[in-house]
Amino acid sequence: MKFFVDTADVDAIRELNDLGMVDGVTTNPSLILKSGRDIKEVTKEICDMVSGPVSAECVALDYDGMMSEAAELAKIADNITIKLPLTWDGLKACKELTSNGTMVNVTLCFSANQALLAAKAGATFISPFVGRLDDLNVDGMELISDIRTIYDNYGFETQILVASIRTANHMKDAALIGADVATAPPGVIKGMAKHILTDKGLEQFMADWEKTGQKIV
Ligand code: E4P
Repeated sequence: MKFFVDTADVDAIRELNDLGMVDGVTTNPSLILKSGRDIKEVTKEICDMVSGPVSAECVALDYDGMMSEAAELAKIADNITIKLPLTWDGLKACKELTSNGTMVNVTLCFSANQALLAAKAGATFISPFVGRLDDLNVDGMELISDIRTIYDNYGFETQILVASIRTANHMKDAALIGADVATAPPGVIKGMAKHILTDKGLEQFMADWEKTGQKIV
């Protein structure tokens, strides 16, 4: 499973990227707001750092507006992926852009039918939002499983990009289901290294080592 980082925080991306943990980046208008940076400037900086796909989201709601914004965002770098909402106009723009070789990430997906439409429109990535479904007591991972089955049934090449990830368990579940990509905030990716028994084991080893009175270096 590929790891994308869901942030526009350049320092956080760099830390994970230096460790080889970053296969791509996703941003959205809320994350751009949080970064306090200009969208084109920060996206360029991210694209220069990360070789994988970097999603930049259009904010127009109509087809023509989306196409104009997509053209502008695509100028930033070769690894830009245009992020479009799962609306009828978004699907139309997706079809047009992917037919011309532009990568498209269709976002705000909350149902298997929406994911089916995105695949038919040639989306490179579909972003189902698991956390926001979980917030409503709907099992977000069941949606991932359904989309996996549907895409495999018909050999769709659209990659399932699990989004709105809130916990390390979401990462594990996405990998078990066979999602192609998971995009998560830096804290969730770093949190995957944590285990209480690792901490307790280290504590014990350190205490016993101290008692040996030895030094390695
Ligand atoms: C990623 O592409 C999405 O924009 C993001 O994962 C949404 O996450 P949220 O539900 O935590 O805002």
